[in-house]
Amino acid sequence: MSSPELVPGLAGIPAAESSVSFIDGQAGVLEYRGYPIEELSAHSTYEEVAWLLLYGELPTAEELKAFTADLERLRVLPEALVSMVKAFPRTGHPMQALQASLAGLGMVAPKVDLKDAASRDEATRRVIAATPVLVALFERVRAGKEYVAPREGLGTAANFLWCLDGEEPDEVAAKTLDCALVLHAEHTMNASTFACRVVASTENDPYTSCSGAVGALFGPLHGGANERVLNQLGTIGDLSNVEAWFEGKSERKEKVMGFGHRVYKTKDPRAKNLQLLANEMFGKLGSTPKYDIALKLEQVVTEKLGSRGIYPNVDFFSGLVYEKLGLATDVFTPIFAMARVAGYCAHWSEQMLDNKLFRPGQIYKGKRQRAYVSIDKR
Ligand code: SDX
Repeated sequence: MSSPELVPGLAGIPAAESSVSFIDGQAGVLEYRGYPIEELSAHSTYEEVAWLLLYGELPTAEELKAFTADLERLRVLPEALVSMVKAFPRTGHPMQALQASLAGLGMVAPKVDLKDAASRDEATRRVIAATPVLVALFERVRAGKEYVAPREGLGTAANFLWCLDGEEPDEVAAKTLDCALVLHAEHTMNASTFACRVVASTENDPYTSCSGAVGALFGPLHGGANERVLNQLGTIGDLSNVEAWFEGKSERKEKVMGFGHRVYKTKDPRAKNLQLLANEMFGKLGSTPKYDIALKLEQVVTEKLGSRGIYPNVDFFSGLVYEKLGLATDVFTPIFAMARVAGYCAHWSEQMLDNKLFRPGQIYKGKRQRAYVSIDKR
């Protein structure tokens, strides 16, 4: 039998069977459990979408009420975990803090009985509930501010803004953030979800599996791109610089952050939704020069690279929305993570229900059967 060919980055190689979400990269389609992302971002809250991803159906009013109450209960961080995050060095990046915090959550949470559905549910809900609070907590630690505990009666997005600023969250801001969380909640077998499933496959709890996933998401080629898009727009500085800046990137064979995708070969449907969100916000709160630069950059890049399937991805407009909400650039990727933990937990649950340890092969390129040489003869 001929040995299988290497596929760099396992591009397009199925790593699992899944029913959580579906992408058609040519048509620019994304569905969560069969529901088009456009429908969900227009009508659903993040809590509704988290339930849909975890359990496969939109929740009834009673299910959503009970789920929301659970998230409220589990959002309260144990004191030992708050003290741990307060001790983190302020020089760390918020994604490094989040990765450590999720492992820390596993240190203080009850041990998960992987064979018991109720225990699995409690653990996945605890991850989804606690992640935004952990992100906000480290932001305050870095600013030298006191911890603001989550408040009852606020949903995920509003509570994040409350825990971050300690002020009554603005309704438009909370609704805008909630929509962005829906758009970032899940995306089939991306690098960090794959990392989550690999860690899960060794029979790990969701804390450890999501901590591993956050490590993968941190990278600039994945979730870390949204932070770099804003820096990129800042570097360009003016509409008149866009073409020269892009020429320089092309000459240096450098990638433009926020463009291209392993699966989408057309504009990412989430980028379209986030652009609508940005337009809506700028209509209400006033535009920003970076948005005009972004539109010009999109025109230039797609003119030059569109024929190669390189278009804006989810990270291209998200940062403009978050910056308008007054959020710090390096918290953009943790916001991506606090949305995506719903998808990670849905995939963790799927992996647990039909688990097979991930252990791929390799194509060996090294030497064989070498004779040992003592150090005096080397
Ligand atoms: C996310 O997988 C997911 O679903 C991820 C995600 C999710 O929701 O989980 O959608 C979130 O990670 C979005 C992507 C965010 N990353 C960026 O914006 C970083 C910039 N993008 C690129 O790094 C790149 O497009 C990737 C990594 C996203 C995808 O790259 P591939 O599929 O591995 O393709 P490649 O790197 O092999 O590039 C193929 C060619 C190369 O040219 P050649 O060497 O063949 O001449 O296309 C070029 C690349 O140079 N190319 C780009 C480019 N992306 C690809 N050229 C310029 N700018 C770019 N952005």
